[in-house]
Amino acid sequence: MRAIEITEYGPADVLKPCERPTPETRPGEVLIKVHAAGVNRPDVVQRLGHYAPPPGASDLPGLEVSGEIVGGDVAGSRFKLGDMVCALVQGGGYAEFCVAPIQQCLPIPKGLSALEAASLPETYFTVWSNVFERVRLSQGETLLVQGGSSGIGVTAIQIAKALGHRVFATAGSDDKCRKCEELGAERAVNYRSEDFVEVVKELTAGKGVDVILDMVGGDYVGREINCLAEDGRIALIAVQGGTKSQIDVGLLLRRRLTLTGSTLRPRSQEFKAAIGAKLVEHVWPLLEAGKVKPVIYRSFPLEQAAEAHRLMESSQHVGKIMLQVV
Ligand SMILES: NC(=O)c1ccc[n+]([C@@H]2O[C@H](COP(=O)([O-])OP(=O)(O)OC[C@H]3O[C@@H](n4cnc5c(N)ncnc54)[C@H](OP(=O)(O)O)[C@@H]3O)[C@@H](O)[C@H]2O)c1
Repeated sequence: MRAIEITEYGPADVLKPCERPTPETRPGEVLIKVHAAGVNRPDVVQRLGHYAPPPGASDLPGLEVSGEIVGGDVAGSRFKLGDMVCALVQGGGYAEFCVAPIQQCLPIPKGLSALEAASLPETYFTVWSNVFERVRLSQGETLLVQGGSSGIGVTAIQIAKALGHRVFATAGSDDKCRKCEELGAERAVNYRSEDFVEVVKELTAGKGVDVILDMVGGDYVGREINCLAEDGRIALIAVQGGTKSQIDVGLLLRRRLTLTGSTLRPRSQEFKAAIGAKLVEHVWPLLEAGKVKPVIYRSFPLEQAAEAHRLMESSQHVGKIMLQVV
């Protein structure tokens, strides 16, 4: 099959088209003939050599696909051979064929194309498991999304807004801020020219936000603590701003704050299956009703994966960058 491999760790050029044997399935897995695959920042981090695939996973990049089930083990599942699905995978998405645990395959929401469906799994699983399960954004609560124009950000803004929350966001330009507001953020803060702590306090009449989805870490964490409401929670999902942070832990006590973090990829199939079931129940209807929409910035042919990574690293995009395989 055609695939894209990471020939060595380094800049986008190390992604090269190659021929690989079609992967073999194990019990509980299906073979998907890939129509489209999503590009995610963790793929870039993997390419740079800082995010190794978990044991047993494909060394090929790619954490989400859509396509047709053409083989493997569908017994006991809701799917049969020939069904179109989208899937969260352990790796190997940048290829003509990809293996997925059947439990991590989801139906394509009605009305969405295969390309759009492939843009969903990685960010929807991450946002749901962090914002709605790990730190339990609850009715009447507010959310601040750092990096609101990222693939993760556009997902978090839309789902939270559609579920009735006030959402604030940060982004690195005025244009991106306007996009975040079009997607449902009540106010987006250009973090290069404004202080999100001050803006959030003003917007919440000094109370602060209840939940922050943070993909920056570093010195953001201390600042976030200064604009969290009592009983507020931070879900850290990346450390683009560094792993070291100085925080006043006294505030955690006095204001009963929670700081937590997680990464999705190494979690068990059972964990991911449970998140998938919640998404189909709570979020797929929002997609089917058009209340939440895939945001695709640009799609490239599979062979141009290096170009797709260059675009992601330029950070010009709003939403998702995709690879079209067929
Ligand atoms: N823990 C997990 O399970 C998990 C799963 C998936 C993704 N992630 C992480 O989530 C992040 C987003 O992933 P993605 O695929 O959606 O990537 P992406 O579209 O490339 O987004 C990266 C975003 O980070 C923003 N950013 C960088 N520095 C910032 C700062 N100082 N303040 C606010 N925003 C800042 C960028 O905003 P500007 O361009 O405007 O600067 C950009 O929107 C990545 O760091 C990724 O590694 C974590």
